[in-house]
Amino acid sequence: MMRLMLLGPPGAGKGTQAKLLQQRFDIPQISTGDMLRTAVKAGTPLGQQAKAIMDAGELVSDDVIIALVKERLAEPDCVKGFLLDGFPRTIAQADALLAHTDIDEVIEIQLANEVIVARMSGRRVHTSSGRVYHTEHNPPKQEGLDDISGEPLIQRLDDAPETVSYRLEVYHKQTAPLIAYFESPHSEASHWPQYVTVDGSGEVMQVHESICSQLT
Ligand code: AP5
Repeated sequence: MMRLMLLGPPGAGKGTQAKLLQQRFDIPQISTGDMLRTAVKAGTPLGQQAKAIMDAGELVSDDVIIALVKERLAEPDCVKGFLLDGFPRTIAQADALLAHTDIDEVIEIQLANEVIVARMSGRRVHTSSGRVYHTEHNPPKQEGLDDISGEPLIQRLDDAPETVSYRLEVYHKQTAPLIAYFESPHSEASHWPQYVTVDGSGEVMQVHESICSQLT
């Protein structure tokens, strides 16, 4: 059983590392960002509700996100464990998560704001799979196309420089408090996740090995 959670600012490399950890440990990646983008693309009621919020770089409401994740965690592929990517993002989401399931490890990926801005401007994504590329640091085999499906890659609307700055503000205000929340065990909790930090500024595989070397 391996129940992991990735924490870190937008663009720190959570999605990139999640894909590698998913393959290595054979556990599903649960990315609330990917789930929301799929809903937006499909035009579901959730997608219609979430689109403007996401494009503006705001957070979707806690109630909606918590219900979405609980439903996903109930699926059979989560029995062996899972990897949360982009959830929780507020104290209310963290409280709801820990009331619902134990988490074994929280992995915080640290990265300076200026590196984040550079990474976001070169990011390209394959929406339906969530595969992530970078024009310079992690290019697809064929420019503009997903390696596996051959479908076109897109640039996310919320990767516009002004939206990235705003998302960083939202992160520091609403999500960064989770660092203190998870770093020290709550006295009333019977099980508390181990907290590990990694420097996200190295090469993709270096960051991956650094994460794996710290997992117990
Ligand atoms: P979400 O999709 O979760 O966005 P995010 O947290 O802002 O994270 P990103 O996907 O932007 O970055 P990442 O850390 O995954 O970095 P990546 O690996 O792509 O959320 C989007 C929106 O959905 C939110 O703004 C919100 O509206 C809503 N939402 C989602 N979850 C929510 C929740 N729980 N509650 C409320 N609302 C929610 O890497 C970035 C780039 O860098 C890529 O190009 C990559 O190729 C490159 N890169 C990665 N690692 C390296 C490396 N080591 N060296 C060089 N380049 C690298």
